[in-house]
Amino acid sequence: MTKIVAVNCSPRKGWNTDLMVQAAAKGAKKAGAEVQYFDLCRLEQFTGCVSCFGCKLPPNEGRCVCLDDMHPITEAINKADGLIIGTPIYLSTISAGMHALVERLVFQNVTYQKELRTYRKRRIPVLMVVTSGIPAERYEEVGYDKMLETWRGMLDRSVGPTSMVISGDAFQVPDYGKYNWTAFDPEAKKKGREERFPLDLAEAEKAGAALVKGEQ
Ligand SMILES: Cc1cc2nc3c(=O)[nH]c(=O)nc-3n(C[C@H](O)[C@H](O)[C@H](O)COP(=O)(O)O)c2cc1C
Repeated sequence: MTKIVAVNCSPRKGWNTDLMVQAAAKGAKKAGAEVQYFDLCRLEQFTGCVSCFGCKLPPNEGRCVCLDDMHPITEAINKADGLIIGTPIYLSTISAGMHALVERLVFQNVTYQKELRTYRKRRIPVLMVVTSGIPAERYEEVGYDKMLETWRGMLDRSVGPTSMVISGDAFQVPDYGKYNWTAFDPEAKKKGREERFPLDLAEAEKAGAALVKGEQ
């Protein structure tokens, strides 16, 4: 059976990123895959690459050997047939958690050999799920399109063909009335949650299925 690893790199369980990753996982399951779901921020202790170079040393070439709580995730991805990875945009880039995971995942495949570009023997499809406070329509204006293309391209080159689903203009808190957030129109946020977000979830579900069917 096709094995998909799904990783939520947002600290908020049950919120935008988690729900989008779960929707993509649902699509993958409906298409016949088995999904292993990880909540990165529920791990007790993890780090980015520690530069031990253990992944370049026989017999562990191409395999991250840092034995923290993230190790089972890199191991699961190394054995998987596809990857779904979701992140909120934090400070105009991906979350620190996703950054740490991508460092570990990508660097283990770097060979430092002229003759061999990557240790990865098998490329697997990747679906990158992104959520943000600002609407997706503003990504070009603020440079998120270029920033995300850097990360998408990184995964594309190192792991496998990578597509992306975006859910912008996130509904961030259950009660906007409790905050002095004059930058937002609570009614518009509520409307977005009720009308646009279900469409984003449907798109994520479709993309999850496409990942399994090789229709990316
Ligand atoms: C630390 C932090 C930084 C953020 N920075 C940005 C940002 O630079 N641009 C943006 O559009 N949204 C930003 N946001 C909003 C989140 O991207 C948005 O609320 C996202 O959907 C949260 O995902 P979640 O519901 O899974 O937590 C930020 C939120 C936090 C907590």
